[in-house]
Amino acid sequence: MPDLMTRRELLLTTAFALFTGRVNASNALLDSQSQQLNSYPDAAINWTKCRSQMAALAKANASGLISQQTVAAQGRMYLTQLDIESAEFKHAVDAAYESGNQYWLWQRLIKDSNINGGILSINNDQPVPLHDHPGASGMLRIISGETEVWQFDEINSGNNSREKNGGDQDIVELELAMHRVLKPGDVALLTPEQGNIHALRALTAQCSMLDFFIPPYERSQRSWYKPLTNNWFDKEKVACRKFPQAEFPRA
Ligand SMILES: [Fe+2]
Repeated sequence: MPDLMTRRELLLTTAFALFTGRVNASNALLDSQSQQLNSYPDAAINWTKCRSQMAALAKANASGLISQQTVAAQGRMYLTQLDIESAEFKHAVDAAYESGNQYWLWQRLIKDSNINGGILSINNDQPVPLHDHPGASGMLRIISGETEVWQFDEINSGNNSREKNGGDQDIVELELAMHRVLKPGDVALLTPEQGNIHALRALTAQCSMLDFFIPPYERSQRSWYKPLTNNWFDKEKVACRKFPQAEFPRA
């Protein structure tokens, strides 16, 4: 006889499976079409409900019940449904712990061992360089402003790609997975396997976005990617020098 939590998780998993069928049918993961607010039939949800559903999703992920693609798809739905105009949500943002660096401001809304979520704000004069979030699925929803986003995958990650570069251990080749302009209400996803390497450039003076990671990535495990050419922005493949977080003290 399953205990209460197990039954809840089974119900959750069933709901995820139903939802995933719909998502897979439309090939929505990394969809080139912007997903607009209210594209789901369900009513808006408040911050308390969004937060608890995200926490349950993270717990299900930590239990190994669902795939990272399902985590990303389900998390996107919660972000899409969240009523960001409510007094409750605005109060949560006002009360958020703030941190940042030269690239972004981070207002932390939820963080534990399974999840990290908050609002990321970037400025037009400071693009966020290519970097990754190893092992994490990420979901973002634009709140205000517009941003250009690039997502890449490392070609032949982990095998002979570096040997082709004359033995240079730091050079990797990236292949473009997605390049989009995101506007308020638009969402974007990454998973550990798809589009995990990304860069952002605000097209308005400032751009703010809800940003959730399940599970939270280890900051010390993050890598940064410096393109070998300055004009990489419209390229399908980009050779980069890859270096670890420890060698990138600016973020
Ligand atoms: Fe990032």
